[in-house]
Amino acid sequence: MQTTPQTAPLTNAPKNIYLIGFMGTGKSTIAACLRQKYGMEQLEMDEEIAKGEGITIAEIFAQKGEEYFRELETGLLRRLSERENVVVSCGGGTAMRECNVKEMKRRGRIVLLLAEPETVYERVRTSHDRPLLEGNMNVDYIKSLIEARMPKYREAADITVHTDGRSAEDICGEIMKKLKF
Ligand code: S3P
Repeated sequence: MQTTPQTAPLTNAPKNIYLIGFMGTGKSTIAACLRQKYGMEQLEMDEEIAKGEGITIAEIFAQKGEEYFRELETGLLRRLSERENVVVSCGGGTAMRECNVKEMKRRGRIVLLLAEPETVYERVRTSHDRPLLEGNMNVDYIKSLIEARMPKYREAADITVHTDGRSAEDICGEIMKKLKF
């Protein structure tokens, strides 16, 4: 005998959290906090892509070009979207592609993390993992790239959270409250 389901099927319900935002806005830190506090699975897009290619992000950019990297991002997003209860730490450029934003909206909620250019600079200045900032590691360049990207970040975001001077716990709490998870 067939039984009637007690709850509506969850196929279209948002199940994942996608953290977007500029480099150095704390996406990985906040993803780790959401994993610890709320038992979500954490996925680092850059890490997955580097693992899949067997080389670093900087090497992918240098050897295969940015467009190739952007295709890998889109492919990964499509594959992982079928999973549930995942907090995804996106690359800083992931939300620049409309198809990526559509995919994220289809399977979850998009959280934009913001930080001042000076804060970003302090967080990333000693890193050599970010090819777009290599040779451009200064506050003015970071500020101009943030400004250029902001319309697309804002358009993609379901909610926006400021991170300057705040603890990861505090930020996670605000995210969960705003998402009503
Ligand atoms: C990029 C950000 C990086 C990485 C790649 C490109 C970007 O990720 O995906 O270097 O276009 O902003 P993080 O934001 O995790 O540093």
